[in-house]
Amino acid sequence: MNDLDSLVEAAQAAFAAAATPAELENAKARFLGKTGRVTELLKSLAALDADARRARGAEINAVKQRVEASLQARRQALADAELEQQLRAQALDVTLPGRRRGSGGLHPVSRTMERIEAIFGSMGFDVAEGPEIENDWFNFTALNTPADHPARSMHDTFYVEGGHLLRTHTSPMQVRHAVQHVKRHAGHDTMPEIRVIAPGRTYRVDSDATHSPMFHQCEGLWIGENVSFKDLKAVFADFFRHFFETDDLAIRFRPSFFPFTEPSAEVDIAFPSGPLRGRWLEVAGSGQVHPNVVRNFGLDPERWIGFAFGMGPDRLTMLRYGIGDLRLFYDNDLRFLSQFE
Ligand code: DAH
Repeated sequence: MNDLDSLVEAAQAAFAAAATPAELENAKARFLGKTGRVTELLKSLAALDADARRARGAEINAVKQRVEASLQARRQALADAELEQQLRAQALDVTLPGRRRGSGGLHPVSRTMERIEAIFGSMGFDVAEGPEIENDWFNFTALNTPADHPARSMHDTFYVEGGHLLRTHTSPMQVRHAVQHVKRHAGHDTMPEIRVIAPGRTYRVDSDATHSPMFHQCEGLWIGENVSFKDLKAVFADFFRHFFETDDLAIRFRPSFFPFTEPSAEVDIAFPSGPLRGRWLEVAGSGQVHPNVVRNFGLDPERWIGFAFGMGPDRLTMLRYGIGDLRLFYDNDLRFLSQFE
């Protein structure tokens, strides 16, 4: 092998050893740069006579072209490799399972609330909403539960500044709504009946598998000149049959006590068949609105009469879906919640 061939081989080896474009440019300088080996060869031509210079010059130019070709090839290879790597880094694995956008759903208790509103709405009940931070008057006193009343002890709650408290039930909405209703029709000869439900959040110092410090209630109130317990029972029958989607359901009133109703009753339902068969399940408190409370509505209890009830949407949701622990509603565990999507 002559010196020129070995020069070409040395250049090819140097280019091949260059792992980056910068290294390659360094290697290029060693052969084709101002003091590079090929350039030095060209300079040496000056010492030759014209004939020898022509012959040697042609050889050296051929060498130069081979070195340049090999440089160019290496440049291309490095550029290709870089592109290849970039493509690999940005590659999409089209065989991966797609990422789906999770579709949210209504919370099971919200579903129950919506069902309650829809069913009572179909029976001509309005829906009222009111404050969760209440004052003593609406939460207790106006509901015939004065400060020294023993029933208050069952409604231990959270007190906030300024004598306000987190409402322990939705019953204050009876008074708030009725007072507004009466005001709105003041000065007229007739007043339409009050027929309203008030769903919402309520609070008590209570926490176990069936009690949560925050829970839900739905209040109901029907006041007219000729409303009786018979109507209450019919409303409940209609409601629970629609809510649980079955006519196969029994309802009973069990005598009870609430300060704001007289007489008062707990409402129990029972399913003759199905997983809850044969057990009486307490689903609401109810009663004829106490004359003192009717008076606090701004109405004459000799003329206006009616009933109220309060039920627990959390409990109804547990019964409807067969849920054993109330706390599941508030854990925000998607394994639980996604079953209701
Ligand atoms: N407010 C009662 C409670 O939280 C439930 C209740 C009972 C509401 C009887 C009523 C009613 O309207 O008539 O325990």
